[in-house]
Amino acid sequence: MRKLIIGVVLLPITWFASAAMHFPRVFQVMFVLYVILGTVVFLLLDAPPVPKIGGWKAGAMLVLFYALISGVFVVGASLLPQYDPTVEKGKIDKIVKPKMETPESRHAKLEELLKKSQELQAKADTLTAQLNKIAPVRTPAAGVPSGEPAAAGSQDLVARGKEVYELQECYNCHKIGGKGSVKKRGPVLDNIGNLLTKEDMKKKVFDTAYLYAEGFEKEHKKGLMPDKYKELMTDEELDALAAYLSTLKNPSVETPKPIFVKSRVDHGFIVYGYVRDKSGKPVADVPVNAQPLKAGREAHDGKTNKDGYYEIFLHIHNEDSGTKIVVTAKDAKKEIVANYNPEDKVTKRQAAVDLVI
Ligand code: HEC
Repeated sequence: MRKLIIGVVLLPITWFASAAMHFPRVFQVMFVLYVILGTVVFLLLDAPPVPKIGGWKAGAMLVLFYALISGVFVVGASLLPQYDPTVEKGKIDKIVKPKMETPESRHAKLEELLKKSQELQAKADTLTAQLNKIAPVRTPAAGVPSGEPAAAGSQDLVARGKEVYELQECYNCHKIGGKGSVKKRGPVLDNIGNLLTKEDMKKKVFDTAYLYAEGFEKEHKKGLMPDKYKELMTDEELDALAAYLSTLKNPSVETPKPIFVKSRVDHGFIVYGYVRDKSGKPVADVPVNAQPLKAGREAHDGKTNKDGYYEIFLHIHNEDSGTKIVVTAKDAKKEIVANYNPEDKVTKRQAAVDLVI
């Protein structure tokens, strides 16, 4: 009786403790099954001994018992979720193969790709020619946009980057679009494209000490994000990964701001403030844009929260002090000058810009 009670008490404890530790549901069920199994085993220890049997009867019982247990194991195991070894093997091949390739085979592959792209180009040319015959192009704008091949190429790169993200299993710690990392190990990346340049993303992945996400100081100090990708990825894969990450621009998902380590204040400038209506009430969910008026410095978007507050992180560097920044929200526009001391690597570089719409 005492053993039974212990078993029954352990059941809910196991269930809720494993839930609190964020184990997936199948594991919870498995742990509970173990408790039940353990309880049964302990109860069986108290069972009265079976009468002594011998001869062929004992042999038959042994075989029967063996068959029964085998049946239980086979049925039980086939009920559990299965890994598909071919899928896992495919993943490993994808990572390992490029590293095993000789320069010659790489070269051959490149040639092949080049040939393919030439064939495609030829096909596109004949199609364009046919199209022009059917509907002659009057203005250049009506023709096949010349930017299209490049756009298709960059789409391939993004798809490849997404694949790299999956292969390297970044999702173990990061969430994108609500998918990934069950436990909050690392920051959400939904808006990372608005916070980091491709260059900075690449630097972060190959040298994790380069920057850290705000609010993840402890994890950063512990070195939670693995510093091993330099050995696992080629530069081409890193480029693709950065291209993919830079497409993640969803300001409605709060994504931790990057903090550049030590002297890295010199990498960014924050524009922040409130957007209010004419009566002074804060306006929520208004897109805000900040545009540095300097060639090569990208504009970025933000959105006001329920208090009408927004923050936009811009990539302007030491040498950019004095750059003008135009901040717009709907029809409201303000221009400020980003002034800071390039020698000062400690003070946060930022400016408040409130707007009335
Ligand atoms: C074992 C967990 C783990 C894995 C795997 C991991 N990261 Fe991270 N990552 C973190 C943690 C924790 C942080 C925050 C602390 C820091 O920046 O060091 C972080 C930070 C980042 C940041 C900065 C985010 C911000 O808001 O500033 C980027 C970008 C990033 N990781 C990309 C990646 C990519 C790409 C991969 C896969 C190649 C990856 N991470 C794999 C744990 C991980």
